[in-house]
Amino acid sequence: MASQGNVNTPRKYVKNYWAQHLFQTDDFSNVIEQEPFIVFNLRQHRTSDGTPYLRLELGDRTGRIPARIWQEDFERCNITELKEGDIVVIGGLLTEFNGKRYIRITELKRVTEFEVELTQLVANLLQEDVEKLYKELLDIIGTIQDPHIKKLLENIFKDPIISEAFKRSAAGETVHHDYPGGLLEHTLEMVHMAEAILPHYPEANRDIVIAGILLHDIGKIIEYETLRTNIRRTKKGHLLGHINLGIEIVNRFLSEDFPEEYKLHLFHIILSHHGELEYGSPLRPATIEAIIVSVVDGASSKVKQYQKELRTKKPDEYGFGEYHKYIRTRVYFSPWITQNEEEV
Ligand SMILES: [Fe+2]
Ligand SMILES: [Fe+2]
Repeated sequence: MASQGNVNTPRKYVKNYWAQHLFQTDDFSNVIEQEPFIVFNLRQHRTSDGTPYLRLELGDRTGRIPARIWQEDFERCNITELKEGDIVVIGGLLTEFNGKRYIRITELKRVTEFEVELTQLVANLLQEDVEKLYKELLDIIGTIQDPHIKKLLENIFKDPIISEAFKRSAAGETVHHDYPGGLLEHTLEMVHMAEAILPHYPEANRDIVIAGILLHDIGKIIEYETLRTNIRRTKKGHLLGHINLGIEIVNRFLSEDFPEEYKLHLFHIILSHHGELEYGSPLRPATIEAIIVSVVDGASSKVKQYQKELRTKKPDEYGFGEYHKYIRTRVYFSPWITQNEEEV
């Protein structure tokens, strides 16, 4: 424990080929050896002639790349115990078939978190940054004028269990802000956007907008769990979803004298923030505050998805990425976008 727990101990396996690089390079000649990754989306498949093989994704903090383990390589890959979230070191080759690239894994072994530099593999906000952002969130609560709304927010965000969970939570498994601290980052991004547009709409109640933003995704602290190497949707997350879970949390903190009109407005924001029924909201926004929250939520999450696509994918010869199921089109990689690779 003494030497393993020491952050200064040199790690045995460090990154040579980042997922982002492997997705974008045109050089297929490199032999990948002892490269650390995290395993995602592990599935058993069969080829057209019935031969079993494994499909998976290999991830590090720069992104994910598809991978395959063919039956002939099973023995050297020790696949029987392999599961999602495992840290592995692999050997293999970058391959392309029908325009789709993947890593053919020829060797794989599971390793412990003490043998790798976990920060190279897991996207994460630094703890000091998380604390700084959370302090900013509490300062924002300090600017709320209405004493009932202020008290409600203080009771929720100063609750020790909620504050710890909120700092750790991601805003999603894979779609946007999908790393610990991501929910906090997403929430504050929305506050900044709302502050910029609120002066244009004097009819809107700032307290309701800001409170609505802080609370709109709070159910995600229960919808997702943050594991050591990945984010996973919980049973409650699957069965109830963060909108219902958010209402449940806020309900627990409402005092008897909390004004009914405010309660309706805040609940309406939580229920309608996805904007459209097809995006999982049971209601469409019916108040000016709810439409503002929904618009800045869409801006924060969609732009982040574009950024991620530009950072982690490779465009075709015309500059288009593959069809993106959430953006619902193919993203165009504008010529002025430089793809900065992560430095090792
Ligand atoms: Fe949401
Ligand atoms: Fe959101």
